[in-house]
Amino acid sequence: MSAEKFLNGKVAIVTGASKGIGRVIAVSLAEAGASVALAARTEQELNELAKIIQQRGGSALAVRTDVSRSDDISSLVHATLEHFHRIDILINNAGYGVFANVVDAREEDLDGMWNINLRGAFLCSKAVLPTMMKQRSGEIINIDSLAGKNTFAGGAGYSATKWGLLAFSRTLMVEVREYNIRVVTICPGSVNTAFSDHSNDAMKIIQPEDVADTVLFALSMPARSNVSEIDIRPTVKPR
Ligand SMILES: NC(=O)c1ccc[n+]([C@@H]2O[C@H](COP(=O)([O-])OP(=O)(O)OC[C@H]3O[C@@H](n4cnc5c(N)ncnc54)[C@H](OP(=O)(O)O)[C@@H]3O)[C@@H](O)[C@H]2O)c1
Repeated sequence: MSAEKFLNGKVAIVTGASKGIGRVIAVSLAEAGASVALAARTEQELNELAKIIQQRGGSALAVRTDVSRSDDISSLVHATLEHFHRIDILINNAGYGVFANVVDAREEDLDGMWNINLRGAFLCSKAVLPTMMKQRSGEIINIDSLAGKNTFAGGAGYSATKWGLLAFSRTLMVEVREYNIRVVTICPGSVNTAFSDHSNDAMKIIQPEDVADTVLFALSMPARSNVSEIDIRPTVKPR
C-alpha cells in the first residue's frame, strides 16, 4: 500500500465488515489507502480481517458493534476518533433479510430487519455527522438493494426496510450537501455472498468485488460531483 493511494489520510467506518460485501469493501478501502474501522458483531472475524489488512501494510481497527444498539454505535464512533482522529467515510452495509409472505412473517424478523437495515444506518449516520460537519467534508455510502426499488412476494419486510433506506439516503443527501458531505446509495441485485444461496449461478451474478469497485468509483469522483444512486445488476439475467 504505497504513499500515492487516493484514499491516503482518509478514515472509513465499514459496518458489516466481518463477512460478504462489507469485508471486501473494507479490504478495498484499505488497499486504496484509507484507515478502516471494522464494525460487526463477530469479534473474531473482525480481528482476523484487521490482522490481514495490517499485514498488507494497511491500517485497521476492529470494533465489535451491533448496529441495532445505539450505545455500540457511540462506542464505535468514539473508538474510531480516538484511534484515527477523524471520520471521512461511513459505509452503512450491515444488513440481512428474512423472506416470507406477510401472513407468515414473524414479528421478530420484521423488528430485526428494521433495527439493522434502516434504523442502524440512520443512527450510524447521525453519529458521524457532527464530525463530518465540523470537518466540512465526508462521504456516507448506503448499501441498499434493488429490493429497495422493486417488490416481490415474500420480500415485504426486507423491501420495506430497503425502500426506507433509499428515502433516508435521498433526504440526508439534501440535508448535508451544504457541508460538502456526499451521500451515495448503491443498489445491487443478487450478490454472491452467504446472504442467499446462489450455488447454480455463483459466477454469473454480481460479486462482492463489483460492489466494492462501485464504492471506490463513487469515492473517486471529483468532490464537486455526488453520484447519488447507482444500480448494479447482472448483465445476463441468472436463471
Ligand atoms: N447478497 C446479496 O444478494 C445482496 C444484494 C443486495 C444488497 N445486499 C445488502 O448488502 C449488505 C451486505 O450483505 P451481504 O450479502 O454481504 O451479507 P452477509 O454476507 O450476510 O454479511 C452481512 C454482514 O452484516 C453484519 N451484520 C449483521 N447484523 C449486524 C448487526 N446487528 N450489527 C452489525 N453488523 C451486522 C454481519 O456481521 P456479524 O454477523 O458478524 O454481525 C456481516 O458482516 C446488506 O445490507 C444486504 O442487504 C445484499
